[in-house]
Amino acid sequence: MKRIDDILEHPEFKENIKRINEAEIDRIYCLHGIEHLLDVARISYIINMEENLGYNKEVIYAMGLLHDIGRNLEYQQGVSHHQAGGEIAFEILKDVGFCEEECKMICQAIKNHKEPMDGEDKKSLNYLLFKADKLSRNCFNCKAYDSCYWEVSKKNKGITV
Ligand SMILES: [Fe+2]
Ligand SMILES: [Fe+2]
Repeated sequence: MKRIDDILEHPEFKENIKRINEAEIDRIYCLHGIEHLLDVARISYIINMEENLGYNKEVIYAMGLLHDIGRNLEYQQGVSHHQAGGEIAFEILKDVGFCEEECKMICQAIKNHKEPMDGEDKKSLNYLLFKADKLSRNCFNCKAYDSCYWEVSKKNKGITV
């Protein structure tokens, strides 16, 4: 997958991942390095196949690899990594040859991956990313479970995946 290989080699991608890894060195909660990004890409692709969603494989892998790219800015400047990530991802996607429509679709999913909007279509790319992101986390086996914001918000809002 040429465009995916090009994302992995993109200087902006590499720099952000490096800084995220450095910022998370003592983090007790979930990490956002390459393992998580690939888990999300692969889980998204499995769901895509199982549910016959029909999304392009490179679109799915690009979305998985870039969905948390905004974490670096979140750690440095306190901005939302969803919004920031969507903006950084757009430039990288354009650089490696995704068309305007693909860039918009992927970045919209990145900007909305915190939780599904009310009435979100369960076959949308937004929902696919949200679901794969949550399924990638082994919360049942996590030492930080009790203080994790995601587990708290999930209990409060009654969200199930
Ligand atoms: Fe995220
Ligand atoms: Fe994530």
